[in-house]
Amino acid sequence: MCGIVGVVGNRNATDILMQGLEKLEYRGYDSAGIFVANNNGSNLIKSVGRIADLRARIGIDVEGTAGIGHTRWATHGKPSEINAHPHQSETSRLTLVHNGVIENFAQIKDDYLSNHHLNGQTDTEIAVHLIGKFVEEDGLSVLEAFRKALHIIEGSYAFALMDAQDPNTIYVAKNKSPLLIGLGDGYNMICSDAMAMIRETNQYMEIHDKELVIVKKDSVDIQDYEGHSVERESYIAELDLSDIGKGTYPYYMLKEIDEQPTVMRKLIKAYTDDDNIVVDNAIVEAVQEADRLYIIAAGTSYHAGFAAKNMLEALTETPVELGIASEWGYNQPLLSKKPLFIFISQSGETADSRQVLVKANELGIPSLTITNVPGSTLSREASHTMLLHAGPEIAVASTKAYTAQIATLAFLAKAVGQANHNKAAEDFDLVHELAIVAQSIEATLSEKELIEEKVANLLATTRNAFYIGRGSDYYVAMEASLKLKEISYIQCEGFAAGELKHGTISLIEDGVPVLALISNNPILAAHTRGNIQEVAARGAHVLTIVDEALAKEDDDIKVMTVHPFLSPIAMVVPTQLIAYYATLQRGLDVDKPRNLAKSVTVE
Ligand code: M6R
Repeated sequence: MCGIVGVVGNRNATDILMQGLEKLEYRGYDSAGIFVANNNGSNLIKSVGRIADLRARIGIDVEGTAGIGHTRWATHGKPSEINAHPHQSETSRLTLVHNGVIENFAQIKDDYLSNHHLNGQTDTEIAVHLIGKFVEEDGLSVLEAFRKALHIIEGSYAFALMDAQDPNTIYVAKNKSPLLIGLGDGYNMICSDAMAMIRETNQYMEIHDKELVIVKKDSVDIQDYEGHSVERESYIAELDLSDIGKGTYPYYMLKEIDEQPTVMRKLIKAYTDDDNIVVDNAIVEAVQEADRLYIIAAGTSYHAGFAAKNMLEALTETPVELGIASEWGYNQPLLSKKPLFIFISQSGETADSRQVLVKANELGIPSLTITNVPGSTLSREASHTMLLHAGPEIAVASTKAYTAQIATLAFLAKAVGQANHNKAAEDFDLVHELAIVAQSIEATLSEKELIEEKVANLLATTRNAFYIGRGSDYYVAMEASLKLKEISYIQCEGFAAGELKHGTISLIEDGVPVLALISNNPILAAHTRGNIQEVAARGAHVLTIVDEALAKEDDDIKVMTVHPFLSPIAMVVPTQLIAYYATLQRGLDVDKPRNLAKSVTVE
């Protein structure tokens, strides 16, 4: 949530900041702004809305050798130009951008800033006024003032600060929110995400929580909050520039849906050697030693945990419990004696999940993070990591990460089951089955026109809809409904098909779309078909998405059969396309739905 970029050195700062912000726009798009400086002066430009709106305001005279930029997902204060970052201190000497939430901002205002004039409602403005007060009123150096403020500020933050009197330095600090240094030749950068700097450099340096960094064009000085220097090695990020473009696709979401067969094949490559499953022994042992697996995640990643639960239990013979990260940290159930926490997170930065991981680490509970982003916070701080190998996922609506998460958990389940000589695991030819999954996805992708047409009849104007299913189809229904509501704004619920008659069926009336998923065994299929009859009798407009082996002639969308453990992967793909086409037909921005951001770094 919120993207930060900064640069200092021998580059055109305006260009670098704007290109970086365009790449970071997925993190928030309520407003944006840049501050650019050189020895002759500075410019502060902000705009409500998208980066394109900001770009339209930037004249050719806005140039400099250093600058900071921000794209905002509003927390404190509505999206407006006044609340857009960067913010400035009372005398405008200091300029600050911030990602995160300052929890004690009201207290700071009362304790230190009663005589200050604040323009907007953001917590960030209070932070820059606080630092500014220590410089402008108390006579501290900017470094001393920043350090003093960091001892007072509580909450999550990634800060980048500039001083108009020294436009050759950017001061940064972080706690719980992501921020990285990018190292260049004659310039250095800061950024929320390596992807936004990859055009400029592939050499990075991590910043850890509660570190303050002084970035100049040819030096990076990392300190703790007491001022002691910290040594840090840089690393090379293996990011492919072509992965982060849209190519010829109109939207990232469609590109990412289409990439799923390739991702399945990449996963086979990553987790096998001569057809043998290869998962780090330490991870296999961690699962073997656990008496219960606790999967903690949010949104789509949480749904992927459900989709993999039965497979994990069957193959590892270990009970699996699911927890919504935002609830878990503050309402943790009674744990088993030997728990293993498994964090599933595409971004590896989700603050809700991270707060659980921090507590797990305090309690000495071992943990595994399953993520798409090597080096992400959840990866760094967990005991173990498994990667999704899905390539950058940029559309806010998660698609290929969900299917990669289930497939990665399949490798984990299979490796542990095999190590335990579990018969079901030994019989489960995962490599072969995933290859079939890739084919099944390709078959669904070749039916895009049919799906688009079905959607036009069903969802183009409706206000609400239901997905129903039983067994693993219920879990897919949860994900399918999240996808549809997230981007098309159709109010949609995913229901266990048998549960409708216990209350929700009262919402069914003429024309309400009910999308039914049927991929499980014939008994469950027959029950779901019974539930379809019940809603159809009450006027529902039903669309069926059915495994070919269970399909009847008049079913709407047929999905090539895959192994039951992997059926959520095959079954979700038509629902991703349904969400995509419904959103297009309703004239909305598929990749950037309102009020959302890709990486949710606030609790
Ligand atoms: O990066 P994470 O997987 O931890 O993100 C969790 C959720 O915020 C995310 O899956 C969200 O639900 C998606 N935008 C849904 O498409």
